[in-house]
Amino acid sequence: IPAPAALSVVRLCCDTNTKSPLLQCVLTGRWINDLGSNMTIGAVNGQGDFAGSYHTAVTATKNAIRVSPLQGSQHRTNQKSQPTFGFTVNWSFSDSVTVFTGQCFVDETGNEVLKTMWLLRSHVDNIKDDWKATMVGINIFTRLHSQK
Ligand code: BTN
Repeated sequence: IPAPAALSVVRLCCDTNTKSPLLQCVLTGRWINDLGSNMTIGAVNGQGDFAGSYHTAVTATKNAIRVSPLQGSQHRTNQKSQPTFGFTVNWSFSDSVTVFTGQCFVDETGNEVLKTMWLLRSHVDNIKDDWKATMVGINIFTRLHSQK
């Protein structure tokens, strides 16, 4: 094997998922989180960019919940089996925006899990209310398997 080919084999085999080094966590698909919110992530392109939709189970407002668009970015598209990522949800039923950041893991049972943190920015009418306009939290997403 020529030297460059041998090097790329080493890189593929020795990622950080020590128990299952060849298992990949893939963002594309349908997910549900610990609040019961659902999201669908489309294909991740060559730049790591992706789009999708988010159906939250809860809201900080009194508005009726509607499915909202999300846009995100995954780091190192084909080098890491457990990639980091971020995405923004632009809520279609409120004046708020949520940003999520996290990592896609394969857990010890072989299941994919997204461990995320989020910041929810709500709209306030007055700069004096800025101090209370941002919430922070965590969400854990698992893959939704289609029922047949
Ligand atoms: C709003 O209330 O203005 C928009 C909906 C916010 C829903 C939040 S985002 C963070 C947390 N995770 C969820 O799945 N839903 C809530």
